[in-house]
Amino acid sequence: MGNITVTERKPSVEEYIQLRNSVGWKILQYDKIEKGLNNSIYCVCVEDRGNIIGFGRIVGDGGTVFYIQDIMVTPSYQKQKIGTLIMRKIMDYISDNCIDGAIVGLIALSKLDKFYKKFGFVSNQNNCFYRYND
Ligand SMILES: CC(C)(COP(=O)(O)OP(=O)(O)OC[C@H]1O[C@@H](n2cnc3c(N)ncnc32)[C@H](O)[C@@H]1OP(=O)(O)O)[C@@H](O)C(=O)NCCC(=O)NCCS
Repeated sequence: MGNITVTERKPSVEEYIQLRNSVGWKILQYDKIEKGLNNSIYCVCVEDRGNIIGFGRIVGDGGTVFYIQDIMVTPSYQKQKIGTLIMRKIMDYISDNCIDGAIVGLIALSKLDKFYKKFGFVSNQNNCFYRYND
């Protein structure tokens, strides 16, 4: 973890595509990715010697409703708590900017229950996770 840096910044579209490729997610249209990243209210990037290896972002209204999206860690860096680091930055941002009782949501596979429950999320049967930020 010696050369790992965490930066609150928007990734380039190329960096975002690199990460999506690394985790095997479908590649989306370039201009739509750009629009989506630009409309995000918060982005965090993790780099190893300048190369992006992790990412997460929030979309929402910035005060009362937040949706967490695109939490990704390149497979060779997984299981080293980098995902946890990204989620901590995201939850800190939400806590610093939300009203009491803000709704925070995300969609995730049920195998990630343990990962998200550590941050206070509960899930329903449709893989929707949510919490009220009190
Ligand atoms: C999900 C993801 C971001 C986790 O990142 P990570 O850096 O490996 O996670 P951490 O090392 O911080 O893991 C923390 C805990 O989450 C759980 N966890 C993480 N990845 C998991 C997985 N793939 N399956 C089951 N549990 C997992 C573990 O319980 C782990 O706790 P432990 O260390 O006590 O075992 C990463 O696996 C990833 O990028 N996956 C592909 C993309 C994806 O599915 N993103 C989630 C979208 S909702």
